[in-house]
Amino acid sequence: MKRILTIVALACMVASCGRNQTSEGETPQQKAERMEWFSQAKLGIFIHWGIYSRGDWSESWSFHNQVVSMEDYFAQEADFTASAYDPAEWVRLIRESGARYTVITSKHHDGFALWDTKAGDVSSVKSSAAARDVLTPFVEEVRRQGGLKLGLYYSLIDWPREDYPNVFRAGPARYDIHKEPERWQHFLTFNSAQLKELQEQYNPDLFWFDGDWEFSSEEWDAPGIVRMLREHNPAVIVNSRIQGNGDYDTPELGVPVTRPASQWWETCMTINDSWGFRKKDTDFKSPDTVIRMLVDCIGMGGNLLLDIGPRADGTIPEEEVAILKELGRWTSKHQEAVYNTRAGIPAGHVQAYTSLNPAGDILYLYLPYAPNASVEVKGLKSRIRRIRVVGSDRELSWKLYNDIDWSEIPGVLYIDVPADVLDPRMTVLAVELESPCTLYEGSGQVISFNE
Ligand code: GLC
Repeated sequence: MKRILTIVALACMVASCGRNQTSEGETPQQKAERMEWFSQAKLGIFIHWGIYSRGDWSESWSFHNQVVSMEDYFAQEADFTASAYDPAEWVRLIRESGARYTVITSKHHDGFALWDTKAGDVSSVKSSAAARDVLTPFVEEVRRQGGLKLGLYYSLIDWPREDYPNVFRAGPARYDIHKEPERWQHFLTFNSAQLKELQEQYNPDLFWFDGDWEFSSEEWDAPGIVRMLREHNPAVIVNSRIQGNGDYDTPELGVPVTRPASQWWETCMTINDSWGFRKKDTDFKSPDTVIRMLVDCIGMGGNLLLDIGPRADGTIPEEEVAILKELGRWTSKHQEAVYNTRAGIPAGHVQAYTSLNPAGDILYLYLPYAPNASVEVKGLKSRIRRIRVVGSDRELSWKLYNDIDWSEIPGVLYIDVPADVLDPRMTVLAVELESPCTLYEGSGQVISFNE
């Protein structure tokens, strides 16, 4: 294999061997167009909100794992008041964070729907103190304020329902779907009725499925579900948690260590240690940590979907508000190096996260530490036009050492980074190149002849 790979060639290789599916009758080019907003967005805000947001027990899992009885779990409906819910404020905050999309739980594994579903009886309208549809006002605000794509999380699993086979993690299933196919069909009909309601009432840009693990693609009729959603909206994007029938991968909680093989992916991440609001969970990530996670995803060509957990009354915990605002300060200052970037260069060239602009002729270096005077970049073959600090008008001086014209090994670049250009969280440098970024990736060359 050739030792020198251009970044462009690498990107093409990744694109052609990515594992993500194209949908029926769609060319890879059409898929890339459909996925365009998603691949440019980089940051999304996830919202887990439901009766569990009273904050005593985890979302759905607490009754499934029998930490709490089903009765006590559902008694929380009386505390889901949404009394201080201000969807305009939620959307303003999400936009301020710099997110370009948001995904809200329309229904978690407990079956509690946030909209006025006609298909079932468990919803904020029919069975909670709020006694109203809380999803519609949020969707309306997202559409009214603009700048955000809308995603709806939908749990395929609905543990409390009598026509759903499983209820508790330990213990027997209610029934076997192969022995009672009509009962299972009854459940699937319910699920698709709810999905139809969601698509017809809200026409989301993205469906974020969860809970596919309990049954196979065939058992869920996953291809049928996706086909139904696409018939309604051919541009809709579907995440992977529908037994491989979706458009992009969703690693959870851990930021990938190496770049995922799929061309489109998103890490979903809690802001503390819980998806929904928990009174006892004050283990919030710092703005530094969140920014690093975001930049780590950007550098590997993916997105970060950062979760928040509003309380049952609709207020968002102050700590979460503060993190989102600081994230917003950073994303707004560094927007050229956040949105519409693509994966950076392989590790080893520089001690920093990296990404590239679409043309490949600006290499962004994200510096999580204050460098001691300079930053070193090895193996950069493209000539440098200039180097500047993103989000400021400062140009930086630099020097190439050992740039020998007869050697295939490029010189080592040293960029001077004075302390007064540093951002308090993460400084970003733009290395502007005269041509798309090309790298030397060899192990060195023996010089046998010196003039
Ligand atoms: C998991 C959990 C769920 C959570 C989700 C978010 O699959 O079942 O509680 O909502 O991840 O990614």
